Amino acid sequence: MPLTGIIVGAGHFAHIQLEAWQEVQGARITAVLSLTMENAQQLADLYGIRAFDDWDTAIREMQPDFVDICTPPDSHYHYTRLTADLGLPVLCQKPLAPTLQEGEALVAYCEQRGVPLMINENWRWQAWYREMKAMMDAGMLGHVYSAYMAMRPGDGWGDNPYPVQPYFKEMKQFLIFETGVHYIDTYRYLLGEIDSLYCQVRTLNPVIQGEDLAVIHMNFRGGAVGLYDANRVTYMEQVRCPTYGYMTMEGTEGKLRLEGDGSIYYTPRGGIERKHEYVIPTKGWKGGCTIATQQHFVDALQEGSPFETSGTDYLASVRAVYACYESASTNQVVHLNAAANN
Ligand SMILES: NC(=O)c1ccc[n+]([C@@H]2O[C@H](COP(=O)([O-])OP(=O)(O)OC[C@H]3O[C@@H](n4cnc5c(N)ncnc54)[C@H](O)[C@@H]3O)[C@@H](O)[C@H]2O)c1
Repeated sequence: MPLTGIIVGAGHFAHIQLEAWQEVQGARITAVLSLTMENAQQLADLYGIRAFDDWDTAIREMQPDFVDICTPPDSHYHYTRLTADLGLPVLCQKPLAPTLQEGEALVAYCEQRGVPLMINENWRWQAWYREMKAMMDAGMLGHVYSAYMAMRPGDGWGDNPYPVQPYFKEMKQFLIFETGVHYIDTYRYLLGEIDSLYCQVRTLNPVIQGEDLAVIHMNFRGGAVGLYDANRVTYMEQVRCPTYGYMTMEGTEGKLRLEGDGSIYYTPRGGIERKHEYVIPTKGWKGGCTIATQQHFVDALQEGSPFETSGTDYLASVRAVYACYESASTNQVVHLNAAANN
């Protein structure tokens, strides 16, 4: 029997997740819960599932095996607590919570009750990062000494930036908290834990409250150096291309570069650059990452195996986010607490 879940939230990303749930093996979503019935019903009708605006009624009538939380961060802890009190597994969207303290409390709440908690961090599941990791594991880059990511979605210019997610404009901490966390987590996936970092931020577009430019210089414990150079304002011919930008990784045996459409080009030491052929899934948003993430959640639940982005693991990415803001405000290198990062 497939597991059944309910999704909380019926906005921009709940839609994308529900589309992905159609492809996931071993589980399905049976209902959507939102603030208003009208909001929930719109999405429920699209996917032929039930709609609710009341938690207790939804739980009583649907008896789910898990809960998929896809609301804004300020209600993640609330729904995580409600779910954990029922002893049910939680799949919770990033950003974990509005503050580091609340994020830590959310993770501790599940840990203390032995409830499985996975953060729905889908970036590292984009097909190109999986492929780059496979190339690294196959020794194609040798010992990696540096990685550079230029994030340029090109959607932050003018009086009406971010039309897809207008709430971005009001966020006091924006680029690193909302989007940079994806890249910090992906860097950790590729290069391991961060030892120290230095960060600078700017607000280029005056109609938004938070930063829309961030440059983060990361030192990894394994010895590699990473640069995340992010800017949402620079003009781009293609707005929000699949990878949101381009990336390079360089090592002793070769180097690669990632293009905006997910293409990877590889140059072995002493050789010439060639396109590296691999399959990019066409379903599942940004290289199949929503399907892959949700499938990983279901597989791990069924096998009793660990989540890549368990709450505990993900706190290392969240702590790095706050270390960035600390670095930017003090203009100092911040050393991440080794014990907390393990
Ligand atoms: N992983 C990704 O790639 C990715 C991309 C976009 C958004 N997100 C995350 O997904 C989450 C939702 O973002 P979104 O863009 O869908 O936001 P949104 O504003 O479009 O939708 C939020 C939905 O949650 C509902 N909601 C708000 N508070 C609620 C509450 N207390 N109880 C029940 N429902 C409530 C709203 O009515 C709305 O339906 C955020 O945490 C966001 O950061 C992740």
